[in-house]
Amino acid sequence: MTRPLLIAPSILAADFAKLGEEVRAIDAAGADWIHVDVMDGHFVPNISFGPAVMASVRGVTSKPFDTHLMISPCDPYLEAFAKAGSDIITVHTEAGPHVHRSLQAIRALGKRAGVTLNPGTPVGVLDNVIDLVDLVLVMSVNPGFGGQSFIASQLDKIAAVRALVGGRDIDIEVDGGVTADNAGAIAAAGANVLVAGSAVFKGGKYKENIAAIRNAAAQARGEMA
Ligand code: DX5
Ligand code: ZN
Repeated sequence: MTRPLLIAPSILAADFAKLGEEVRAIDAAGADWIHVDVMDGHFVPNISFGPAVMASVRGVTSKPFDTHLMISPCDPYLEAFAKAGSDIITVHTEAGPHVHRSLQAIRALGKRAGVTLNPGTPVGVLDNVIDLVDLVLVMSVNPGFGGQSFIASQLDKIAAVRALVGGRDIDIEVDGGVTADNAGAIAAAGANVLVAGSAVFKGGKYKENIAAIRNAAAQARGEMA
């Protein structure tokens, strides 16, 4: 099953003083999904925002909200992020002992369930949850901050996830240090959803930046950009 190529700009790199305008701008610039990074200052060494901020910008776009929860515990907050307008909710395998339960809870809320792995986490943790997920997110930086460099060893992990997913209807997403320069290699390894913060928001040229990432990935997939 070939899943479509999707570009998901991360609003972590947006100007929070005008967040609604920024979401509208990346929508108009060609974003397929809006990637929403939620950080708790405990699971990761940074704090971003919670469901109220997310809900406040939900109305400015009809694009799917791709919520990446970097919080522990996550279970007490799943319903709030579902109600705030998430379409996909992704939880970390490292965020608690019961990722299987978290994924079931996300699906029970009527949302697409995603699971993610830090760079140091082996692919094998997916073995017993793969039939509960709609998306696997491979972290290509240690989560917590935008603007970090892509960890090249994660290309092999993307390929291993691709092999594990096989013919299942599951998106493979990559997050951290994604640029137009490495988008081709990421797509060639088997990912179809590319998250980018800095590389989309840099220089204010959102449309050109999204197009550059999309074109590089599309070319690697053998598709016309
Ligand atoms: C990192 C976040 C990423 C981050 C990506 O913890 O999950 O989504 O915003 O930012 P860039 O593209 O700048 O690495
Ligand atoms: Zn993210």
